[in-house]
Amino acid sequence: MTSSTDRPRRALVTGASSGIGAATVRRLRADGWDVVASARRADRLAALAQETGADAFAADVTSDEQVAALVAHVRATGGLDAVVNNAGGALGLAPVADADLDGWRRMYELNVLGTLRVTQGVLPLLRERGAGDVLVVTSTAALDAYPGGAGYTGVKHAERQLATTLRWELVGEPIRVIEIAPGAVATEEFSLVRFGGDAERAAKVYEGYQPLVADDVADTIAWTLSRPAHVNVDLLVVRPRAQANNTTTARTGV
Ligand SMILES: NC(=O)c1ccc[n+]([C@@H]2O[C@H](COP(=O)([O-])OP(=O)(O)OC[C@H]3O[C@@H](n4cnc5c(N)ncnc54)[C@H](OP(=O)(O)O)[C@@H]3O)[C@@H](O)[C@H]2O)c1
Repeated sequence: MTSSTDRPRRALVTGASSGIGAATVRRLRADGWDVVASARRADRLAALAQETGADAFAADVTSDEQVAALVAHVRATGGLDAVVNNAGGALGLAPVADADLDGWRRMYELNVLGTLRVTQGVLPLLRERGAGDVLVVTSTAALDAYPGGAGYTGVKHAERQLATTLRWELVGEPIRVIEIAPGAVATEEFSLVRFGGDAERAAKVYEGYQPLVADDVADTIAWTLSRPAHVNVDLLVVRPRAQANNTTTARTGV
């Protein structure tokens, strides 16, 4: 993927040490992008960098200082054409009556403020390029509620409004704002993190049907980023065929 100046386009992918983020790094690299891969775990990033030729930079998106260092690194090493705000996740599935305040606070810090912090940091770089993409991975949890999901659906709705509002605020500038909203994706860690390391409970989420895999989502990300510059895919919802909505999954074995 090249820019109008024939140099490879350059993307920053957050949450790149696992799941959708790692798959996105692999796919963008295969498509010819330069990629800066970021997450907290430097060892996993180093392995991904070794495999794909991406540049790795460890940063916690909930830290002002670490995101500032990440942005400085991106600036110093070649600037930016696209940011994939993917770092995020769910904590718990408790009903509102029993929900853990600290879990909700941490979800907000990671999904909403993390995306805000990274986006604010890189917007000047995208503007310096004269064009760019801000992509946000939300979820079908950004579109509707489900029992036990209020903490996660709440933060994903907020992330969606961040993207929607930013698109409005940037209209007239050559910067696209793209939202990808996946349904159930069987990634190594998403449900494991959600259920505090309970592998049996995590595995049940994906039992009896074919969920999406990380590369299915990476494919949609790469596709939206590679549309002609005048085409803005505002929102792309992608679910497994077996999932009609957040609460209806046909566990029929296919
Ligand atoms: N899996 C699903 O069913 C699904 C469905 C819809 C939407 N999504 C969304 O898709 C995104 C990726 O999900 P996934 O399934 O790929 O999850 P995952 O496998 O758990 O990956 C989450 C990534 O976020 C990183 N991360 C977590 N906390 C971070 C922090 N404070 N700072 C920087 N990076 C951090 C993790 O790396 P480190 O731990 O190394 O930092 C990891 O690379 C999330 O936004 C999620 O909400 C997932």
